[in-house]
Amino acid sequence: MSAETIGLAVIGCGTIGRVRTVLATEYPGVSWLGLCDIDGEAANGLAADTGADFVTTDFRELLARPEVTAAIVATAENEHVDPIMAAVERGIPLFIEKPLATDPVESERVLAAIEDRGVDAVVGYTQRFRRRFLTVKQRLRDGQIGEVSSVVTRAFMNRMVPIATLRKTDRRDALTPMVVSGTHSLDMCMWLMEGKTPVEVYARSCDPVLGELGTKDSTFGIFTMDDGTLWSMNISWALPTIWPGAVYGIEIGIVGTKGVIDIEDTHRDVIIASELPQGAGYVTKGYAAEAPRHVDFIGSYPPGDLSDGLLWGPMREETMTWFNRLTMGVKTPHATAADGHRNLLLTMAMDLSARTGRPVSLPVAAEDLLVTD
Ligand SMILES: NC(=O)c1ccc[n+]([C@@H]2O[C@H](COP(=O)([O-])OP(=O)(O)OC[C@H]3O[C@@H](n4cnc5c(N)ncnc54)[C@H](O)[C@@H]3O)[C@@H](O)[C@H]2O)c1
Repeated sequence: MSAETIGLAVIGCGTIGRVRTVLATEYPGVSWLGLCDIDGEAANGLAADTGADFVTTDFRELLARPEVTAAIVATAENEHVDPIMAAVERGIPLFIEKPLATDPVESERVLAAIEDRGVDAVVGYTQRFRRRFLTVKQRLRDGQIGEVSSVVTRAFMNRMVPIATLRKTDRRDALTPMVVSGTHSLDMCMWLMEGKTPVEVYARSCDPVLGELGTKDSTFGIFTMDDGTLWSMNISWALPTIWPGAVYGIEIGIVGTKGVIDIEDTHRDVIIASELPQGAGYVTKGYAAEAPRHVDFIGSYPPGDLSDGLLWGPMREETMTWFNRLTMGVKTPHATAADGHRNLLLTMAMDLSARTGRPVSLPVAAEDLLVTD
């Protein structure tokens, strides 16, 4: 089998861009590496660590390089659209961090451009690459619990994540628990329930702790699917800093007509307790945990864990598998751009329902989801 090589552009050299770039250096098929960050220090630092071939603070300059054959967009949540559109113009395959955009109308425009140009664009729903979820997906594909009738999802997150995320921008209207983080659990459940289409959602939010930062603490909702399946999707990202789950823990119950699948994914199976403080699970520039943390659920950082300078876990599987998709055309379970757009609209529909106190019929037009007040 002959394989293509990759001329890789990475736009956004922060926490996640760095992880994916370091992984690219381990992949023999990446023959050229170009980096961009508006923060020259971040870009140059990563270039020095990875021996990149090209580095710039202007993504257009990077994307104009003839060596580039694929791009990763790993900029901050509000800054995805311009680099995606520039890469789509070149028609190269894309790996985009979630969400596709934070504005639903922009997201629709981005998806249309990707589809019109026939670009192979995938979105970073990293949890799909965990063995436990891949095998659950297969059991469901094989019909082992009959017809799925009811699903309940509970996502608990440490408030370090919203604090670290929201401090990066003043544009916080769309940076809700569902849009930024619940989207991972939502994608997982929509993937596991593939074939079912939501027709209505009803949700409620509250904000006693994080309201002052311009976001919500918790959003709980109930979706009804076209075949009558009920799905309760719940997230709180306001758990105290000292909660041992440093980032993300979920439970998903899937009830079928002939069985049930019960997923406990809270990471309570590997725990460290120490007189020495443990760091923040989600590390981003200039952020440190507000309170000393002495107990930690090891494994609660969704991308994976570092050992001897290398990241092990689903982000490795996801990134390396994407490279295989590019070089050898292998079939992969990556979320598509259409999945990413759908996920944004569903998370925003929950927020709209919570804002108005009314159920929202689905599908809903992107314009109707804009935050206008
Ligand atoms: N897949 C996952 O599990 C996962 C986990 C965490 C974060 N994320 C997503 O990854 C993305 C990046 O998150 P992060 O934690 O790395 O953030 P970060 O703030 O650490 O990094 C973002 C970088 O983008 C740069 N940037 C912003 N605008 C730019 C532009 N126009 N051109 C070039 N660079 C620009 C910033 O300077 C910063 O260095 C977000 O969308 C986030 O939601 C995904």
